[in-house]
Amino acid sequence: MKILGVSGSLRADSHNTALLRCAARHLPEGVELEVWDGLRDVPPYDEDDDVDPAPQAVAAFRAALAGADAVLFSTPEYNSSIPGQLKNAIDWVSRPFASNPLRNKPVAVIGSSTGMFGAMWAQAELRKVLAATGARVVDAELSVPKAQAHLGEGGSLAPEHDEGLAGVVSALLEETRPKVTAAA
Ligand SMILES: Cc1cc2nc3c(=O)[nH]c(=O)nc-3n(C[C@H](O)[C@H](O)[C@H](O)COP(=O)(O)O)c2cc1C
Repeated sequence: MKILGVSGSLRADSHNTALLRCAARHLPEGVELEVWDGLRDVPPYDEDDDVDPAPQAVAAFRAALAGADAVLFSTPEYNSSIPGQLKNAIDWVSRPFASNPLRNKPVAVIGSSTGMFGAMWAQAELRKVLAATGARVVDAELSVPKAQAHLGEGGSLAPEHDEGLAGVVSALLEETRPKVTAAA
């Protein structure tokens, strides 16, 4: 089983990318998390360019999403909302609506910021946008506030948040595993 990690930050020392790496530590045997690194290359959305073949970076994002069983987003908050480049990339892959690679895909959203509220509003908006694409948004949350205090340079996460992170990962896996239907 494969989970794609998507960080909303382009920053080399991003707390949100670090949070995805922390999430990987909670995965059971047989489940891998690959952090997508193509966000910077996605061009600005232009409906005139939304044709076949798609721009290379867009095609690569679509393929990465299609090849994943689930997606874990980790987003910073910019001015109380989703970073523009992340929203732009989701806009690209949301079309065509009926066959977009997020449709029916289990997704979870976590986030971190240097502020007091851990990107809560950005996460709420991201969940709304992902639901609009048809993704199955898991009802589990993790906000890591004061990122510089709670996310260590060596990749450590404060225990109270690490516990919450394990809970989100577990909820995402639960949503992803094939549902076993009871025999009649
Ligand atoms: C343009 C801009 C706007 C920001 N707005 C917010 C905000 O509304 N709320 C917040 O908590 N932090 C805000 N921040 C701080 C970011 O959350 C902080 O830089 C965070 O560490 C970025 O995530 P990263 O470490 O993954 O790059 C803002 C930062 C920038 C650059």
